[in-house]
Amino acid sequence: MSRQIIVGNWKMNGTTRDSQALVQALLGKVIADGPEVVICPPFTQLALLASALEPSPIGLGAQDCHKDVSGAHTGDISPAMLTDLGVSHVILGHSERRQEHGELDETVREKAVAAAKAGLTPIVCVGETEDQRESGDHFDTLGWQIKGSLPDGFSGILAYEPIWAIGTGRAATTEEIAETMTFLREELVRQFGEAGKTIKILYGGSVNDKNAASILSIADVAGALVGGASLKAEAFLSIISAAS
Ligand code: G3H
Repeated sequence: MSRQIIVGNWKMNGTTRDSQALVQALLGKVIADGPEVVICPPFTQLALLASALEPSPIGLGAQDCHKDVSGAHTGDISPAMLTDLGVSHVILGHSERRQEHGELDETVREKAVAAAKAGLTPIVCVGETEDQRESGDHFDTLGWQIKGSLPDGFSGILAYEPIWAIGTGRAATTEEIAETMTFLREELVRQFGEAGKTIKILYGGSVNDKNAASILSIADVAGALVGGASLKAEAFLSIISAAS
């Protein structure tokens, strides 16, 4: 089995002081032959952390990027600007961006193409709302999101994040995750054939130091996308040590 990957999504958190303190607490404790670890601070901290992390086994990711290389896009950041800083991963189509910035599957797909072209590994997020799960529409929703958001030849990472589990302290149960992983894998194989068998699938949504071990031991879970708990060094390190 390949190394699991633990991604910390700091979201809109992290002053210079907080970010440096958090990274200092992680450095030296994250080891090169453990699971892969990537932290995704806000854009404003990327340059600073790129030097703080060099050299270290901790990878650096961004939380979004634009689909274009450059141009008149006020407030946006291009994939090339990220690689220029030493960023290796980029989260795309997070439900918070889909909800707060109206990002559609098509936008996410275009960004995934641009990110991969620039040499970044896209981490594309999909996930259903509570209503969709309760009405039994969750697999349809996920199926459409995968079809719409992942471009042909996609070789990045898929993150399954049920929206109702994000930041609520109510992670999906191991049964719900296991069943959804099976569904997602089938969809990936349907869409990409043989290549769909190797796309890594992460789980995200209230992963913490208590539930990480059981979530990370579910078949086909290649790692976790961690929000709140990635802001606390001790909790994040416990999650990393629960991974293989
Ligand atoms: O990207 C991370 C997810 O949205 C999960 O956030 O761990 O705070 O629930 P959370």
